[in-house]
Amino acid sequence: MTVRINDIVPDFKAETTDGPIDFYDWAGNGWIVLFSHPKDFTPVCTTELGRLAQLFPEFTARNCKIIGLSVDTVADHLRWKPDIEKVAGVPLPYPLIADQDLRLAKSLGMLPADAGATSKERTETNNATVRSVFVIGPDKRIRMMQTYPMNTGRNFDETLRVLDALQLSEKHDVATPVDWRRGDDVIIPHSLTEDEAKRRYPNGWRAVTPYLRYIADPTES
Ligand code: BEZ
Repeated sequence: MTVRINDIVPDFKAETTDGPIDFYDWAGNGWIVLFSHPKDFTPVCTTELGRLAQLFPEFTARNCKIIGLSVDTVADHLRWKPDIEKVAGVPLPYPLIADQDLRLAKSLGMLPADAGATSKERTETNNATVRSVFVIGPDKRIRMMQTYPMNTGRNFDETLRVLDALQLSEKHDVATPVDWRRGDDVIIPHSLTEDEAKRRYPNGWRAVTPYLRYIADPTES
């Protein structure tokens, strides 16, 4: 199955390190970061899970829950957890889904439908495409997805930055330029005509080209 931005993540039941969950109940009405791993006890992934444990308060402050997924059992995840905590220097504060039957990996387009129904005989290398980050909105739609190569550690400061940009765009109907960070100028969306923009921004804007119109970050005023 192929998944794309704006697709709804269907509800699912899963076993996790915090016990069984119904995804929609667990998610509530907030934002979600769901990120995946091809195998437990892999070095790059251990650092990634640790970094998200460190950044957990930043995500919580943005009404965003975190959930990991790895293609192994809850028992394996629980044996892996102390290693992650040792690397992170903080407790692992979010659940890890056990996707040993590959169900979620397939339904989220990370493995092909014919990948089989068990992770038992599979290696981290043939699961290597299970290295995605999904940002899911309160409406359960996928707002951002990134898939990383197996030897390249992810950058979760970028995930936070995207979350900030998504939440800002949702609240204020603005777009954000390259490398945008909180407090930087934002862009009047291309979809807003000149007349509509004049009505909404009577004090004007800074136009670099007719279609690239900057205003100050609306949360700063
Ligand atoms: C890792 O080092 O975390 C890793 C190794 C192989 C495949 C994917 C991840």
